[in-house]
Amino acid sequence: CGIIGYIGFREAWPIVIKGLHRLEYRGYDSAGVALMNGTLNIYKKAGKVSDLEKSVESEDLKGTIGMGHTRWATHGEPSDRNSHPHTSGDGRLAIIHNGIIENYSSLKEALLSRGHIFKSDTDTEVLIHLIEDIQEQTGLDLRESVRIALNEVIGAYAIVIMSKDEPDELIAARKGSPMVLGVGEKEYFIASDASPIIEYTKNVIYLNDNEIAYIKRNELLIKSIDNVIQIPYVQELELKLEMLEKGGFDHFMLKEIYEQPRSIKDCMRGRIYPEKGLVQLGGIKEFAEKLKNIDRIVIVACGTSWHAGLVGEYLIEEYARIPVEVEYASEFRYRNPIISEKDIVIAVSQSGETADTMAAIELAKEKGATIFGICNVVGASIPRLSHAGVYTHAGPEIGVASTKAFTAQVTVLTLMALYMAQQRGTITQSKLIHLLTELDNIPTMVERCLLSNDSIKEISAKFKDARNFLFLGRGSGFPVALEGALKLKEISYIHAEGYPAAEMKHGPIALIDEEMPVVFIATKNSSYEKVISNIQEVKARKGKVIAIVTEGDTVVKNMADFVIEIPDADEIFLPLLATIPLQLLSYHIAVMRGCNVDQPRNLAKSVTVE
Ligand code: G6P
Repeated sequence: CGIIGYIGFREAWPIVIKGLHRLEYRGYDSAGVALMNGTLNIYKKAGKVSDLEKSVESEDLKGTIGMGHTRWATHGEPSDRNSHPHTSGDGRLAIIHNGIIENYSSLKEALLSRGHIFKSDTDTEVLIHLIEDIQEQTGLDLRESVRIALNEVIGAYAIVIMSKDEPDELIAARKGSPMVLGVGEKEYFIASDASPIIEYTKNVIYLNDNEIAYIKRNELLIKSIDNVIQIPYVQELELKLEMLEKGGFDHFMLKEIYEQPRSIKDCMRGRIYPEKGLVQLGGIKEFAEKLKNIDRIVIVACGTSWHAGLVGEYLIEEYARIPVEVEYASEFRYRNPIISEKDIVIAVSQSGETADTMAAIELAKEKGATIFGICNVVGASIPRLSHAGVYTHAGPEIGVASTKAFTAQVTVLTLMALYMAQQRGTITQSKLIHLLTELDNIPTMVERCLLSNDSIKEISAKFKDARNFLFLGRGSGFPVALEGALKLKEISYIHAEGYPAAEMKHGPIALIDEEMPVVFIATKNSSYEKVISNIQEVKARKGKVIAIVTEGDTVVKNMADFVIEIPDADEIFLPLLATIPLQLLSYHIAVMRGCNVDQPRNLAKSVTVE
């Protein structure tokens, strides 16, 4: 979910609504706003932020204090009733919340027995009733009641609270869900990330876990939930406003696909020196010695980041000769994993806020492992939880389906694999020079991949009505196939599966008929000949083959129904290049099917709940 709050001298409504649009990538099931204007006015609606705007066209939306929420449903279906803000029984208090109150059912039972009546099915409403209840029982002020309530809550939250009785104050708090405060002149902003704040101020404070902020127009007090005053650390944002806009593209996703030559370059900047054959990763250099002696690396991640992890496994094993395991963070955290001080755990996450990945890190840390984070959002929770790490520097990714963040993660993992190989002496200097020289040229090759856009669009038109898709690859082409399938299902709702090409004959081959499009990663690399045999197996069963091939390939061209060429490069760089046409394929298919590419149904960009 996305949350925003404003207190100051300007009208709050336009700031809050604009902020909600910027945060909508975090969830878009329903939206709501509370405004203070003598009294507390609440407007909320199932659907998008624009639906909320339409529903209040005739209202007088005044007030210089306000807060808003855009929801990704956890407890309770998306409906007007379950939308935030939620209010206390007497309607004096209102709350917006991102996260999950895990012990909400026991709290709710106790509150029900004391006569509280609930209007929604949400865990959030329980929290605001709890605060109201504490106030009633103890007579304490709102500040103290909030603090006591948060001590009773198990789970994750970023919350903002408004009260009719305190019309000049906002109370915000966080634990496990992100929250940034923007500091202006006699005004403050609160948001899940800095994107709604950047046009008003560059000065921000990242609230830490277990901190509560009491905010008035010209006064900010931060305390821990143990009631200790905290000294806020104000930092300057590096974000630029144009990074958050579409810049002439129809969708953020397309813009982000086209940004990849630049984002990959930014990711390598200052880190590679091809002529010297040198990789430098300042973020992990204090562990350079440790890398020489480790026995094992475990990579934990979710979704697309997990696919980047699979590419990382292939690269690190190949070049640094360290055994690697790649785990879904959500599985890892619940199965008593075997981890020791000797292990390095690499957590890969675009947002740096994914709840499962954070929990996996905490568990690995408890067991003594060293944690490296690979993250895109500077200052997010995962980099802060990690011992060391490398930022991907892809810039803000707004499209819910990950594109440039994935290629940046793969770039960082490539750099890490080569860095580790360099430390461990498992690569020759001449090979390193060769690979780094080619890596330096990858942004230009990605540009060449993008030139196929028009022909990919034509291919997309042929398959836009397919009901199923298969994506096949071998070696590091396998995670590329998984990612290609995930992209397509995420944004076009076509069922798609990624498979290792050779495994096809053990199951998916049963699905193949003249209706079934099969995308092959069939570039000239060590498994080229084998993939050709797999293509023939599909053709023999009348499947339709779309093949990603190396420029100039004629063999596959004669077999496949459609080919998309990518530049010839060392096998290690295959994932960075072959991914690009698959992103474009899913993009065009989704657009042709009339899908909402940037905000696909049911998904959210940042999953801060487990
Ligand atoms: C969500 C997003 C995916 C992303 C995954 C992991 O499901 O929709 O695009 O891959 O979370 O997110 P992270 O921020 O940890 O990379």
